[in-house]
Amino acid sequence: MERIPLYRVHMPKDVMSVLEEVLFSGYIAQGPKSDEFEKRFGEWVGNPNTVLTSSCTGALALSVRQALDSGEPTEKPNVVSTPMTCIATNTPIREAGAAIKWADVEEDTGNISAASIDETIDEDTRAIMLVHWSGMPADLDAIHRVAQKHGVPVVEDSAHALGALYKSKKIGNHSEYACFSFQAIKHITTIEGGAVACKKPEDAERITKLRWFGLNRKEQRDSIKGFEEYAGAGYKMNTNDVSSAIGLEQLKYLDGIVTRHKENAKTLKSELDGTVGFPRVADGADPSYWILTILVEPDKKRAISDSLSAQGIDNSVSHTRNDIYKGLGNEALGDDSAVARFDARKLNIPCGWWLTQDDLQRIANATKEAVKNA
Ligand SMILES: Cc1ncc(COP(=O)(O)O)c(C=O)c1O
Repeated sequence: MERIPLYRVHMPKDVMSVLEEVLFSGYIAQGPKSDEFEKRFGEWVGNPNTVLTSSCTGALALSVRQALDSGEPTEKPNVVSTPMTCIATNTPIREAGAAIKWADVEEDTGNISAASIDETIDEDTRAIMLVHWSGMPADLDAIHRVAQKHGVPVVEDSAHALGALYKSKKIGNHSEYACFSFQAIKHITTIEGGAVACKKPEDAERITKLRWFGLNRKEQRDSIKGFEEYAGAGYKMNTNDVSSAIGLEQLKYLDGIVTRHKENAKTLKSELDGTVGFPRVADGADPSYWILTILVEPDKKRAISDSLSAQGIDNSVSHTRNDIYKGLGNEALGDDSAVARFDARKLNIPCGWWLTQDDLQRIANATKEAVKNA
């Protein structure tokens, strides 16, 4: 029985010819291919203030740093964040020297709750961090209302949400910062890579410098010109021309990939209606379903997962609620929180571009069988 993977690397064969060209061109660092991919990806998102980075984690770190640096100075800055995410969402907050204050999630979506942000935020909060769980956009209008009331920028961890729409606009056009991932198993990959789409050109400009020590690498390429301005101690979180050459090829497939994820999720949701639950799609959201989250009874989850695996269907909880990680430095939200209940029920099954109609049928039948016998 052939295994159906939960994640799969999308790597078109035609990458080989462009790779050969760039690898032997004599220039593999961040250069012309990176400029081109940055421009073309920004055009695809619809946001010209888009900056490529070494990863989504890098994009998040640069965004949090810029949010902290541009806010009113405070001795003890904090970022209000979601616990229901990958640890990569939250480690950059601690690295930037801020504390994390957990807001709870909406129990029916798994995304951060605007009401809980409003209760959690204080005068030392310098950013709100959210994730679009599994590619399902958070309730951005409600979150922005709270953010504006408190004068705090919003960072969207959009690692799962490439190609998702909110109010008919692609994710990457709504908040101060939206961070994307081109890591191995995301909708598209550049091996490692990421990007941040900024609302303000000045944030994009400073992040362009912070990603390379605090200096504008593009200026350095004009060898007669020295550096004119130092943006402050930055990082080595830039991209390179090898990743960007791959990215340019991947872009050709991106619309098709996102469409397949959406269609596959729709098929599975209709097949499994009444068998399992699904997170609610927020008003105005059109998810890009990196994976499909199903909601099952907590005490049956292990049996359902094992049965799916036995039937050759890869599945996973993918990420564990972050508030229970003591190393992030804050009390967990407790067993009666919405995040505890969502985390206990969630399980992820495949819905990606690689699935055939037969695969979808196999996944649906296997899920029904697993739930029946659990
Ligand atoms: C929600 C989320 N944010 C951030 C990341 C990190 O992305 P990257 O590996 O590009 O740093 C991941 C990776 O899986 C993720 O799932």
